[in-house]
Amino acid sequence: MNQVKKIEKTFALTTPLYYVNDLPHIGSAYTTMAADVVARFHRLLGRRVLLITGTDEHGLKIQQAAESKGRSPQSLSDEMSAGFVSLWELLNIQYDRFIRTTAPCHEALVKEFFQRVWEAGDIYQGQQKGWYCVSCEEFKEERELLEGHRCPIHPNKEVEWRDEQNYFFRLSKYQEKLQALYQSQPDFIQPASRRNEVLNFVNQGLQDFSISRVNIDWGFPVPVDPNHTFYVWFDALLGYLTALLEPDEEPTLENALAKWWPINLHLIGKDILRFHAVYWPAMLMSARLSLPGRVFGHGFLTKDGQKMGKTLGNTLDPIALVERYGSDAIRYYFLKEIEFGKDGDFNESRFINVLNADLANDLGNLLNRTLNMVKKYCAGNVPPVTNEDIPLEHPLKSIGLRLGEQVKNTYEALTFNQACEAVLSLVQASNKFIDEQAPWSLYKQGQQQAVEQVLYAVLESVRLAAYLLSPVIPNISSDIYQQLGFGIDFNEQIKTAINAPFAIHRTWGVLTNQQKLGEPRPIFQRIEPPKN
Ligand code: MSP
Repeated sequence: MNQVKKIEKTFALTTPLYYVNDLPHIGSAYTTMAADVVARFHRLLGRRVLLITGTDEHGLKIQQAAESKGRSPQSLSDEMSAGFVSLWELLNIQYDRFIRTTAPCHEALVKEFFQRVWEAGDIYQGQQKGWYCVSCEEFKEERELLEGHRCPIHPNKEVEWRDEQNYFFRLSKYQEKLQALYQSQPDFIQPASRRNEVLNFVNQGLQDFSISRVNIDWGFPVPVDPNHTFYVWFDALLGYLTALLEPDEEPTLENALAKWWPINLHLIGKDILRFHAVYWPAMLMSARLSLPGRVFGHGFLTKDGQKMGKTLGNTLDPIALVERYGSDAIRYYFLKEIEFGKDGDFNESRFINVLNADLANDLGNLLNRTLNMVKKYCAGNVPPVTNEDIPLEHPLKSIGLRLGEQVKNTYEALTFNQACEAVLSLVQASNKFIDEQAPWSLYKQGQQQAVEQVLYAVLESVRLAAYLLSPVIPNISSDIYQQLGFGIDFNEQIKTAINAPFAIHRTWGVLTNQQKLGEPRPIFQRIEPPKN
């Protein structure tokens, strides 16, 4: 019963915890924007939401990055972690928890979790031999490597040979249980292509993995043997649990699990799927904890067709992008233009074209020209038309009545591009409707009632479009709602869920002539392509 209640009323989700070897690039921002859209959507539905993000600060990768900059790992972590916080602010990310894995409360939780796994008999000492990629913080199979022992994900980096005593986690013991999990919860790993990857990997047979290191001191010491520090991934995954603690709460597993566990959704990139879909559930099984609802692995961003990365020097600076175009534009482009789950490209001229076409022309002009006509033909008031005056088969109403449910399904399935497309189809139908109905001619012919019906139907359709797009473009949607006379700001989530509940605002016919319309003003400035 409690479980059912939790699923309906609350929703906890995570972004990965980002490495602090460098400042965030647009790839890290991508997952976080998507997570914010999901969080905002669930808040619109009136659910309590916990969006967790943060930084992963231990391990050799960070230690080496700090050494190469002549800094201490802690000071590098402090600076980079702050960089993520400020980028999230610029991108209008409304997160609830920001966990840093160097936090003292995290150490307490890691110890307690380790103790449980230790008592379950799932940890033993052994010899670790193999090729290690520091950039991935992962051992690689010989057969996975490129020529010259280079990592397939970081082809400019050679992997390093390791032969050392480590503590191991008995992953192999959980092979059948994991297989049963994937079978009984087919949605546990999404999309389907990633699920298949994991199934193949697990079906090949699982090997135990080492959870400690001896050659590095930038990490928490292993309680049973302080010569070892915890392997960064063991520590990092547990960050999701620590993040559930209330601020200043005593750091115990019991407290962490009390309110929000199990987490409903982990959003990650495809490169870290194995850790989340195999290691993490096995660790949780060992500690006798329930499992998260689903793990979604999205694709990689490329630029002008090439994989984006520091090595190629083609990363996109998210700060420069936000400063130039604003957060809504960036959020919209990445969510509308890239199928979540597939790789997707950034190309500046396409970026500009999409924003101009969808936000400036289709949506922006529609609102602007309709409000101006209302001013001219209806004295600036919402036409006194009621929803009942408009037949069900009206071209806009018939789309509008179905749209809310349709868009809800797409947000739930994380098919953000389809959500945007569906809303855009109402916007485009509205522009076409105005052109066909030509209210300016109807007005000249003295057909005032017909003019009012046309304008009402279009205004109402813009309202609905703004509402349904508000998780993606909260600033623009708020601007539209304000011009339509609603005192609603979609960045004030709790108030919005109360004043504009999804159950009512997702339907068609909400606008009434009690609304006092605002002055028409452009909601999105057309972008001029850079001159070459
Ligand atoms: N620290 C680990 C995660 C630990 S979670 C308990 C990590 N960090 S990371 O900073 O390297 O990557 C974080 C996320 O950014 C990953 O999901 C990764 O897929 C994503 N991206 C990094 N580059 C990317 C692109 N070019 N495109 C899209 N996402 C990419 O892994």
